Amino acid sequence: MVVSYKHEPFTNFADEENRQEYEDALSRIRRMDLGKEYPLVIGGQRIFTDDKLDSYNPSNTSQLVGSVSKAKKAHVDQAMDAAYDAFQTWRGFSPEERADVLFKTAAIVRRRKHEFSAMMSYEAGKPWGQADADTAEAIDFMEYYGRQMIELGKGKEINDRPFENNSYFYQPIGPGVAIPPWNFAFAIVCGTTVGPIVAGNPVLLKPSENTPVIAYKLVEVLEEAGLPAGVVNFLPGDPEELGDYLVDHSRTHFINFTGSRQTGTRIMKRAAEVQEGQNFLKRVVAEMGGKDTIVVDNEADLDLAAEAIAQSAFGFQGQKCSACSRAVIHDDVYDEVLKKTIEHTKGISVGDPASENPYMGGVINRKQFDKIKNYIEIGKNEAQLVYGGESDDSKGYYIYPTIFSEAAPDATIMQEEIFGPVVAFSKAKDFNELLEIANNTDYGLTGAVISNNRQHLNRARYDFNVGNLYFNRGCTASIVGYHPFGGFKMSGTDAKAGGPDYLLNFLEAKTVSETL
Ligand code: NAD
Ligand code: ALA
Repeated sequence: MVVSYKHEPFTNFADEENRQEYEDALSRIRRMDLGKEYPLVIGGQRIFTDDKLDSYNPSNTSQLVGSVSKAKKAHVDQAMDAAYDAFQTWRGFSPEERADVLFKTAAIVRRRKHEFSAMMSYEAGKPWGQADADTAEAIDFMEYYGRQMIELGKGKEINDRPFENNSYFYQPIGPGVAIPPWNFAFAIVCGTTVGPIVAGNPVLLKPSENTPVIAYKLVEVLEEAGLPAGVVNFLPGDPEELGDYLVDHSRTHFINFTGSRQTGTRIMKRAAEVQEGQNFLKRVVAEMGGKDTIVVDNEADLDLAAEAIAQSAFGFQGQKCSACSRAVIHDDVYDEVLKKTIEHTKGISVGDPASENPYMGGVINRKQFDKIKNYIEIGKNEAQLVYGGESDDSKGYYIYPTIFSEAAPDATIMQEEIFGPVVAFSKAKDFNELLEIANNTDYGLTGAVISNNRQHLNRARYDFNVGNLYFNRGCTASIVGYHPFGGFKMSGTDAKAGGPDYLLNFLEAKTVSETL
């Protein structure tokens, strides 16, 4: 019997003991782990290759976190063989047995929580609270999907006629590929991998080239919890070399992707092509980018609005698909919300989360650093720069929190995903116009409405066209099992990670009817 699901509590870093434990974890990694070499994992075998992916701390770019072997196409074929072999036995494990591996993994991660979080402070530039929430989300995915699989394992009730016995149940679809992003460097790697696995499908995991070390740690801990060899295979490498090959492979049954719109749409298109020797259709989960808006009505708690905007825009350097990059404010309260948001932002500290606990660390890499700086330049021509705008790459890729005001609803900085600590303010004359602007992008991932007007909230419930809509709070920080996550429009396939329907993406339903 499994107790009901509850989300993993976050660590309180105001508590000196917790702070000390986190510092100990950082220092242990500094002494024991930094610069280590990591192998591929195929069918349980460790394979070291000469060609390596070097992963550096984005907040201290001279610090090598780890050097990870790169897979080649031949390794993909090898891993596919291992996954097919493993499928023959793994599909025969009962849902309870498969769930049990996830529960054990969750227990080990919980016990060694700071070790995983601290590694993200090094490899992804995650401030402590953000890293802790990322690890908690990974634990939640394992606890939640395990329980979902046990539930789905019972099948569903269907009708029998007097001369019939009918049954309806779910079975795994076959080996496939998990392609996660770097920003939820443990949580999304974990969710995209263990979801299909608990459903009975072996996975070829191709981690992001930005955060391969923490992804390796997931594979290690799954093995430690008893996951049979070949059920997870670890294939870091160049996306240009491996990406299309994994997606196009005639033996890939599904692609569980989270990342940019550009990559997601490419995967969708390629996966639709039936390859020689392929006698099934590939399933694609493609969860993509966002351009998320917080709407502030004229009847609203303006302190709450300012806090929600600043936290959602600048938490983890704005590098969340859910980040608030647009604040659309009623004319009556625009000046005050802007002023309060600037005040709030002044308190934000920037530094290296591997040696202190700042509110923000460096952004993930040189490419993102340059891209965000370029958007700041675009913003200077389109709107008023009212706060920040600075950057510094002397030690790490630091971009300081940046606020633009007076942005036109169709301005580039109001339309394109920046994925950095930049928020643009725009104003509207009434609630109709607030919603119109909120809906005027290609994306439809998250959004929030700060309002005390019940009629307006009711209207937004149906007319604000996003997959995750929040009232009187920020637009980030969904919790598994509480806020199933996924977007509309060009934000993706709305797979609702951490929700009751997620595992159906990796299962096929079967009807058996016996005439008696
Ligand atoms: P990305 O698209 O650059 O990379 C994502 C993954 O795809 C990586 O593992 C990468 O190596 C791989 N990849 C790159 N090219 C590929 C190809 N041709 N074929 C197959 N795989 C390929 O995205 P990113 O920079 O890692 O992540 C940031 C993006 O992810 C943002 O747009 C963000 O909004 C989005 N995101 C969305 C969600 C969500 O749930 N909707 C969550 C987190 C991040
Ligand atoms: N699930 C993450 C959030 O809500 C992306 O911020």
